[in-house]
Amino acid sequence: GKVRAPTHIISTISDDRGEEPCYAGVPMSSIVEKGYGVGDVISLLWFKRSLPRYCTQFIEICIMLCADHGPCVSGAHNTIVTARAGKDLVSSLVSGLLTIGPRFGGAIDDAARYFKDAYDRGLTPYEFVEGMKKKGIRVAGIGHRIKNRDNKDKRVELLQRFARTHFPSVKYMEYAVQVETYTLSKANNLVLNVDGAIGSLFLDLLAGSGLFTKQEIDEIVEIGYLNGLFVLARSIGLIGHTFDQKRLKQPLYRHPWEDVLYTK
Ligand code: ACO
Ligand code: LMR
Repeated sequence: GKVRAPTHIISTISDDRGEEPCYAGVPMSSIVEKGYGVGDVISLLWFKRSLPRYCTQFIEICIMLCADHGPCVSGAHNTIVTARAGKDLVSSLVSGLLTIGPRFGGAIDDAARYFKDAYDRGLTPYEFVEGMKKKGIRVAGIGHRIKNRDNKDKRVELLQRFARTHFPSVKYMEYAVQVETYTLSKANNLVLNVDGAIGSLFLDLLAGSGLFTKQEIDEIVEIGYLNGLFVLARSIGLIGHTFDQKRLKQPLYRHPWEDVLYTK
């Protein structure tokens, strides 16, 4: 019989050996002919399956809403400083991307993990939030630097409105809203933020679509796919900030002395 030479790499998401590349078995010509969008491509390459239109539309809305949030946020600030230091596009981009993490943009996976665990265990928002406090862990997906009860994040509202209209169930998101009601009773800025909205709603997308087994959902949450949405989205804005600084021929950035508290 045939002897298969051992391979050094296993890959299951795309194949470029034929006449045209295939994403999860779908040839590029079908992707173009069927008018697929970036949400479909993400579905194929990340989740290895085609998802219904409302899911791919939701993914695209996440990408559009998170593409940028002005020049003052951590990521854009780093990118701007790097571009102004004369560095190239990739260096400026990754310098901004490196700020994405537990405080900024990279709380989506933890929000999904904690909200899922708390909801599935039937914890009340009080039990969940106070339990986290006892462990000294901040609730991922809650809190914002400039948003608060009276100045809620419009992006969160837009995601919620879309999901309430199109998703078969929004139980995880409604749980996150109950958690927000409780945290807002503690402090004004402890709103459900865009990471928390995406984290909880993606749980609803995965569970409600009926296309993922329980084991697959657990694996997606455990591996942490969802911060990828923010990384991908914000790359659009960070690339824009790099071009902007270069177009404006901005000089080397030096932080003003007056804005530093020099102390011993
Ligand atoms: N859970 C519980 N308590 C909190 C939380 C939270 N998520 N956020 C703030 N607090 C409370 C704490 O008591 C904190 O005091 P501590 O420093 O002793 O823990 C107090 O509020 C003040 O916290 P600050 O750090 O001053 O609040 P700040 O406005 O700087 O923080 C931040 C904003 C970083 C977003 C914070 O709320 C947080 O860490 N949230 C969780 C991570 C998260 O979801 N990040 C994504 C934000 S959205 C985005 O980046 C696109
Ligand atoms: C963002 O999307 O970058 C923000 O929510 C963070 C911020 O501080 O505005």
